[in-house]
Amino acid sequence: MLPSDIDKLRKEAKAAKKSALAPYSRFKVGAALMTDDGKIYRGCNIENPSLMLSFCAERAAFINALVDGEKFFKAIAISSDDKDYCFPCGACRQIIAEFAPDIEIYLVSDKGIKKFSVSELLPHQFKKP
Ligand code: THU
Repeated sequence: MLPSDIDKLRKEAKAAKKSALAPYSRFKVGAALMTDDGKIYRGCNIENPSLMLSFCAERAAFINALVDGEKFFKAIAISSDDKDYCFPCGACRQIIAEFAPDIEIYLVSDKGIKKFSVSELLPHQFKKP
C-alpha cells in the first residue's frame, strides 16, 4: 500500500465513525475497506437494544462491499475514539479471514497506525474440513 492510500483509508475510517449508531456502548467505530482496484467501502457499528444484534463496523464494511459484488480486497482501516488501538473482535477476524485472507489490517488512533496481517490477528483460524 502506498502511504497516500493508507492515509486516505485512515481518513475514510474516521469519517465512517461519524455514522456510528452506538447509543448503548457509546463506543463509535468506523472502518474503511479498500478493494484491489482502489474503491473504498465504509462501515460503522450499528447497535440494537437487543445487544446481540449489534453490528461491528468491520462487518458492515464487508457487507457493503460484498453486496456490490466486490471480491478482492487489499486493506482495511479501523478507527475508534479510544486513545488506544481498536482491535477487531473475534467474529470480525473470522469474517475478514474468510473474505480477505491476504488483506492488510491498519488500526488507526491518535497514537498512530499499526499494521497487522490476518494470520497475526487470527492464528489457527477455523476452516471447514
Ligand atoms: N465494535 C466494532 O464495531 N468493531 C470492533 O472491532 C470491536 C467492537 C463495536 C461493537 C459495539 O457496537 C461497540 O463496538 C462496543 O462493544
